[in-house]
Amino acid sequence: MECLPLFIFFSALIFSSTFLNFSMAADTLAPNQSPTDGQTLVSLGQKFELGFFYPGSSKNRYLGIWYRTIPDTVLWIANRNEPLVDSQGNLRISSNGTLVLISGNQSIIWSSKLSEVAAHPVAQLLDTGNLVIVDQARKSSDQYIWQSFDYPCDTRFPGMRLEDNLGTAADRYLTSWKSADDPSPGDFSYRIENHGLPQLVIMMGSVKKHRSGPWNGVRFSGLPAFTNPAFKPILNFDGNQLISTYDPYSDAVMSRLTLNESGLLQRFVTNEKNTEWSLMYTVPNEQCDIYGQCGPNGICRINKSPICECLMGFTPKSQQQWLMLDWSSGCVRSVPLDCQRGEGFVKRAGVKLPDLLQSVVNTSTSLNECETECLKNCSCTAYANAYITGGSGCLMWFGDLIDTREYIAENTEQDVYIRLSASELESIRNSHKMDKAVVKILISAASGMLLLGLLCGFIIIRIRRKRREDLMVIISCSGYMSPEYAIDGKFSVKSDVFSFGVLLIELVSGKKNRGFYHPDHHHNLLGHAWLLWNENRVLELMDEYLKDSCVQLHAQRCIQVGLLCVQKLPEDRPAMSYVLFMLENEEGTLPRPKQPGFFVERSAIETNTALGSEEFGVVTITTLEAR
Ligand SMILES: *[C@@H]1O[C@H](CO)[C@@H](O)[C@H](O)[C@H]1NC(C)=O
Ligand SMILES: *[C@@H]1O[C@H](CO)[C@@H](O)[C@H](O)[C@H]1NC(C)=O
Ligand SMILES: *[C@@H]1O[C@H](CO)[C@@H](O)[C@H](O)[C@H]1NC(C)=O
Ligand SMILES: *[C@@H]1O[C@H](CO)[C@@H](O)[C@H](O)[C@H]1NC(C)=O
Ligand SMILES: *[C@@H]1O[C@H](CO)[C@@H](O)[C@H](O)[C@H]1NC(C)=O
Repeated sequence: MECLPLFIFFSALIFSSTFLNFSMAADTLAPNQSPTDGQTLVSLGQKFELGFFYPGSSKNRYLGIWYRTIPDTVLWIANRNEPLVDSQGNLRISSNGTLVLISGNQSIIWSSKLSEVAAHPVAQLLDTGNLVIVDQARKSSDQYIWQSFDYPCDTRFPGMRLEDNLGTAADRYLTSWKSADDPSPGDFSYRIENHGLPQLVIMMGSVKKHRSGPWNGVRFSGLPAFTNPAFKPILNFDGNQLISTYDPYSDAVMSRLTLNESGLLQRFVTNEKNTEWSLMYTVPNEQCDIYGQCGPNGICRINKSPICECLMGFTPKSQQQWLMLDWSSGCVRSVPLDCQRGEGFVKRAGVKLPDLLQSVVNTSTSLNECETECLKNCSCTAYANAYITGGSGCLMWFGDLIDTREYIAENTEQDVYIRLSASELESIRNSHKMDKAVVKILISAASGMLLLGLLCGFIIIRIRRKRREDLMVIISCSGYMSPEYAIDGKFSVKSDVFSFGVLLIELVSGKKNRGFYHPDHHHNLLGHAWLLWNENRVLELMDEYLKDSCVQLHAQRCIQVGLLCVQKLPEDRPAMSYVLFMLENEEGTLPRPKQPGFFVERSAIETNTALGSEEFGVVTITTLEAR
């Protein structure tokens, strides 16, 4: 940024005692003053300066305000849409109180828009950085007839308000610069959006990029509580006005919130002794901050991999896309709502509430009444407590739940109750209320470790405890299985698929491959499964524990997938991602398995199943997380 030489000269003058009269007038501009080209104002406490500058490499000249100690960062611009195209022109205040920028040919290129005419106007640059026009004819001098704080540019600094005035011209919000050379409004804005409950949003044009989550009476639900004793928290939400966001208590701390040209909102701080800004935080900061990251009815969990999962009772709309980590199409209900008896809700605790797209707020309804109200209306899909302070306040959603995110932090006490069909609720109950379970099977072996992160889907796990007591865990669910699959050691991917196949068949049958004995033949467990498969009697392989449960179809599918995994030719075996896909995608038709490897009747030797799970030793469940 360059200032006009004359400008700098003028700034220098105000410190000189020879020109005391100038320095006394330096923070104000009155109609009788005939300013020279490059007029500047400096606030009384020497904190802020108003003057002309050239942004970046631009030849256009703008009138702006900056901290005197850091002149490179312009905080406010008067004429961001109407640049002065040459070095001519200056600022005046007309006798009616209008501030005007006059170009070299004496035409007005920018003026402050006054709602009323002043009798004795004077413009003043305050130590807050606010350029104000006061009418000295009035008793109260702090009633401004115009103030620059009402016209935010890309930066909010302490004292400046953001306001939502229902989309009228009185809306106050930040807009990014177009580029470093062009301060005219770019694509991004940062504003208050108010659909019953206010929230702060970053928009790109009319597309939402990030939101703070609704105001919950204490703060914005999506922003974790901020504890820095030097800063006021975001407490000051008054009606449609946001007065304070992390403003410092002390004037010695300088702070600004800037929406940069790439749509990133950044909080910078410094103090009067410094000449550089330090970045405090950036929003959006992580993937889950990005609006609608997991698509409709998905939920974002930042320290999980993958970060997106479907909300309970929902499955990916497109399994293929979901597996490719493309979550944009989101999730659909596993069982559609039919508004019949028995519908109810599952609670998802500690979330950033879904966006208030189709929603209704009733501030006087209690949480219990809220549930009843939601149930009564067939199109109500979820409800939540609107405020974390006190019991009342009911928020109801109609339609898809978008931009929900999970929080781990303690101070995120908001829960959402999601409506599910009777049968979905029943199946959740049956599966020990674990619709989404993360099961990590750790198979340790002398030569390697196979870590299968099986995220949901259907799986039966037999835990072999040290004392060989068997415990059966059945998790039947409809969500997503993670392809997350880490291999360490010397195994090839295809042989791991083989071991996984052995494991699947062992789990369903409750028998071990090695040492398997059958009175009718001398095949191992895989061979036995293959024979039964060919005779259409595969269900006979099922473990006693499973016989009376309703999981036969799942089990049959598991065996078929298992057989596909243990096919003789490695090139016939499916990739692990496809294995998981087949397991979870219960409708899809499966290929017919071919003969398994090591399909030879044992005579002398115990068939070496090479990479059968037996070699991996004990199967233990390390984590079984109900979520
Ligand atoms: C105030 O004066 C300016 C220029 O002198 C003029 O353009 C503007 O219309 C006047 N405003 C009112 C409200 O009279
Ligand atoms: C004054 O200059 C501006 C460009 O700076 C031009 O648009 C305008 O037409 C000029 N006005 C007159 C009266 O020459
Ligand atoms: C916006 O801020 C980010 C993060 O500091 C930075 O990487 C990016 O370059 C900035 N964009 C522009 C256009 O300055
Ligand atoms: C809020 O709910 C109460 C009952 O719970 C009802 O009497 C009132 O009319 C509702 N208000 C609105 C605005 O719907
Ligand atoms: C359900 O709620 C929506 C949104 O408030 C409303 O438009 C609709 O009329 C309600 N339906 C019934 C049957 O009450």
